[in-house]
Amino acid sequence: MSGKATTADGLVAPHGGALRNLVADASKAAALKKEALALPSWDLTARQVCDIEMLLNGAFSPLAGFLGEQSYLRVCKEMRLASGALWPMPITLDVTEEFSSKLTKGQKIALRHPEGMVLAVMTVGDMWKPDREQEALRVFGTKDTLHPGVFTLLKQSNPVYLGGPIEGIELPPQYTFNELRHTPTELRALFQKRGWRNIVAFQTRNPMHRAHVTLTQRALEVSKADALLLHPVVGMTKPGDVDYFSRVRCYQAIMPYYPEQRRALSLLPLAMRMGGPREALWHAIIRKNYGANHFIVGRDHAGPGNDSTGKPFYGPYDAQTLTQKHQAELGMTIHMFEEMVYLENQKTYVPRSEVPTGAKIGNVSGTELRNLLNSGGDIPEWFSYKEVVQELRRTYPPKAAQGFTVFFTGLPSSGKSTVANALLAKLMERSGRPVTLLDGDHVRKMLSSELGFSKEHRDLNIRRIGYVASEITKHRGIAICAPIAPYASIRREVREMIAQYGAFVEVYVSTPVEVCETRDRKGLYAKARAGLMKGFTGVDDPYEVPEKPEITLDTSKLHVKDSVQKVVDYLKAQGLLEA
Ligand code: PPS
Repeated sequence: MSGKATTADGLVAPHGGALRNLVADASKAAALKKEALALPSWDLTARQVCDIEMLLNGAFSPLAGFLGEQSYLRVCKEMRLASGALWPMPITLDVTEEFSSKLTKGQKIALRHPEGMVLAVMTVGDMWKPDREQEALRVFGTKDTLHPGVFTLLKQSNPVYLGGPIEGIELPPQYTFNELRHTPTELRALFQKRGWRNIVAFQTRNPMHRAHVTLTQRALEVSKADALLLHPVVGMTKPGDVDYFSRVRCYQAIMPYYPEQRRALSLLPLAMRMGGPREALWHAIIRKNYGANHFIVGRDHAGPGNDSTGKPFYGPYDAQTLTQKHQAELGMTIHMFEEMVYLENQKTYVPRSEVPTGAKIGNVSGTELRNLLNSGGDIPEWFSYKEVVQELRRTYPPKAAQGFTVFFTGLPSSGKSTVANALLAKLMERSGRPVTLLDGDHVRKMLSSELGFSKEHRDLNIRRIGYVASEITKHRGIAICAPIAPYASIRREVREMIAQYGAFVEVYVSTPVEVCETRDRKGLYAKARAGLMKGFTGVDDPYEVPEKPEITLDTSKLHVKDSVQKVVDYLKAQGLLEA
């Protein structure tokens, strides 16, 4: 490391030094591990596990721990740590109020992997309640929760942040593709061993097709680098992305398309935030820590898609502008690339701006590719490699062979269970596929018998249903769920959980409350009206109406048979059931 000015939160400036936060000495690590057993212990979330791996292995250098308040505020506002070093993304440890209420400043806490092992000990320097809306606005430029980073921040993160240096005991365990995982120190050593001084790095969260390979081959030539580092993210990416196991097999398949002496593939355990320009800058810093000095920024780098008005959150080239602006300070060369498209008559890929007027171009978007996989349609040879297509077909069989979830939601007595039961029978009658019904009442007996009806308990109930449905969907079965599920954010969480494995069909049973109340099979509306029961959905507890359900059914107007038919027709139209 150069420049060792240590700040209040233990940060060392500037970045690029691949500082490791792991205790090097084995006996010291063992003593720390022993000490940790007696400390208050925090179970890290999936995202925090990714963050801590990057902190421990030095990929987040110059960070020596989770950000303290001063650095956090400055990062949000100016993309700089308290020390002044460029750092665009707040890396914070969010915990519950309950956990933080037992802590005092200066105290040590154990940070535990979900499997139980203590990964690190943190000394609590700062403890504060951040203004998370302000953070969203500053870091992501929006409060719109359609942005995945904003959704995580505002809907899924805990309200108290802890900042302070960490002492690492061990890295999180990894069981897959271990030969492709490297710490920054290991990767730098590998580059050195191969005699490479100039490395151009490519970030990706998608399978790579011919356009990406052409782009990276060009970058290798333009940069005159010794080698190309394919550095795909295998931590957390955008919900709905192709799982990383399939992607890694695709990356392995395309490696032979690069010169043997000038290529490297390494997996990055990063949890992305989909933060567009700021994220691109962060990606560049991380790659510098891994030893690269050239970085490719393409069109819409780390783009989160469109906002609730249908407009993209960021301009397609905003990430390029921001990263280029900081090139000198980063000590890296940023290579900006446009989208590559296929020129049919020349049978080659070129940047979009180089397409001669009137020339015929070929392009397959991500959505078109999914549609082709779903329908079992031909994927053109000019678009991808047969090895990649073969991998993707294994992961995404034609739609009629994929699992899916039909998720009914609506007020009590709206008719969810009745239609769901009838749908179950219909699906069992017409196909030999396994179908499971997770009905509200049944689930409350079998999975959630200890839960009540507070918001926290309802969310947990729905999360459990979503988890089971996602497993069924993953195993290519059909899950039908029929809880009230009154809150939109947990419905979205469940949608994202399931969408990675198969279709999520939300059916809003919109039967008006007056009609539900006249049905009142269990007499609960009457009880709630009489004040004998508190927190009853539709009476004194809210029901948030779904904004974009796939299907809406008003059972006061539709017969059960017709409601079922409407769902079956939708499933057929989507190709989920054979016509
Ligand atoms: S939730 O909110 O999704 O967790 O609810 P769910 O598990 O689907 O509820 C199952 C049935 O519990 C009965 N019940 C209540 N509903 C709403 N609010 C309160 N406070 C409540 N207490 C008990 C209710 O009959 C639900 O069944 P349905 O079939 O929806 O009428």
